[in-house]
Amino acid sequence: MKLWKGRFSKQATSSSDEFNASIGFDQRLYKEDITGSIAHAKMLGKQGIITAEESKLIIQTLQEILADIEAGKVEFTIENEDIHMNIETILTERIGQTGKKLHTARSRNDQIALDIRMYLKKETAEVDGLLEALLKTLADLAEQHQKTIMPGYTHLQRAQPVTLAYHLLAYYQMFARDKERFADCLKRVDRLPLGSGALAGTTYNTDRQFLAEELGFAQVLPNGMDAVADRDFALEFINCCSITMMHLSRFCEELILWSSVEFGFIEMDDSYSTGSSIMPQKKNPDMAELIRGKSGRVFGDMMALLTICKGLPLAYNKDLQEDKEPVFDAVDTVKASLGIFREMLETLTVNEQTMAKAAKYGYMNATDAADYLVSKGIPFRDCHEIIGKMVLYSIQKGVALDDLTMEEFQSFSEAFEEDIYDAISIENCIKAKKSEGSTSFESVGKQLADIKA
Ligand code: ARG
Repeated sequence: MKLWKGRFSKQATSSSDEFNASIGFDQRLYKEDITGSIAHAKMLGKQGIITAEESKLIIQTLQEILADIEAGKVEFTIENEDIHMNIETILTERIGQTGKKLHTARSRNDQIALDIRMYLKKETAEVDGLLEALLKTLADLAEQHQKTIMPGYTHLQRAQPVTLAYHLLAYYQMFARDKERFADCLKRVDRLPLGSGALAGTTYNTDRQFLAEELGFAQVLPNGMDAVADRDFALEFINCCSITMMHLSRFCEELILWSSVEFGFIEMDDSYSTGSSIMPQKKNPDMAELIRGKSGRVFGDMMALLTICKGLPLAYNKDLQEDKEPVFDAVDTVKASLGIFREMLETLTVNEQTMAKAAKYGYMNATDAADYLVSKGIPFRDCHEIIGKMVLYSIQKGVALDDLTMEEFQSFSEAFEEDIYDAISIENCIKAKKSEGSTSFESVGKQLADIKA
């Protein structure tokens, strides 16, 4: 029997019931819904809106319903539309008239806004934990690879030598900011909508501050219409998820490239790779590809929710029921991706030799060779030109810059002396970086120390 049936003279068809229902997906919010209802019943009792006995009976029964749901003993029905009315119906089935009093001074509009906020508070803590674990993995890996030299790229062309630790710490910083972003978003999620009623507030002497304390919210939302109408907090959350997925996706792209025979920098563990059904030799980096692919879903979730909200007149509209699936999908996807990504990272093998070799060939010490000439008093632009010609010469000869003889060096500039070989050794190119936040061994050591502090 529908809870809102009073005004209706005809029944819904089964197809309209099915179309209208959200229980298929919002049952995920059962715990938040019941916890919110318990706080609400407590407040109603405290304020004398219902009696203390009624309040007690409702709370006790809600706790039993919660236990029964968790024990798999409860069946939800489409006829009861959503999680709110399903639970209220079960409550009333169990305690009759008293159960019907729970919805006093409340609407499903503030109820659902509360449920999503509570759910996102819980999930933010989960995502935060996963990010924290990933940061630790990255820092550990960087610590092990402080001396692992590899090419740094721009335009995917070999640019300047860096250490693997430096490269990993670049991602460390990105994920650390993601963590910050979730924490900042939480400040806006952590505000209580309950007690706003359908849109205009209620005529009862409610205590919203009490509800906020009871449910652990930092603040009460100051405007009831805003409280039931907007989903910006959820959008912000999916935006945080999107940025995290974008970072993961970029990293995955690199791992995919690095594990190709062409690069050969890393090898993924067998447990995080898959084979081909036709090509026996294949070992594919499917996990990394899936994370890269799933980033697209999360961006889609964000676009979906933005589009759902963009034309809605205030306050609540049923369109807002469509907010839940994108939110759930973003939560599930970002959590699964963060978990599997960390495992993948922890189990991969780094081919240090291949990285070092790639760093030696590719003229990545050309900038350092130019800097050497600058130190001999030649203006940088001229140095750039001289070294450019030397690189061209070396490419034609098929050698590295440091393979050139002293005579060859001096044929390009009189300023070259024996110490050029030292100055452009790959190790020295790294060591010589002096700016704050550089790839030098010293700076990376400091970056690691700062992270630990
Ligand atoms: N299932 C609804 C949702 O998810 C709950 C709020 C319904 N409110 C209403 N006035 N029909 O948005």
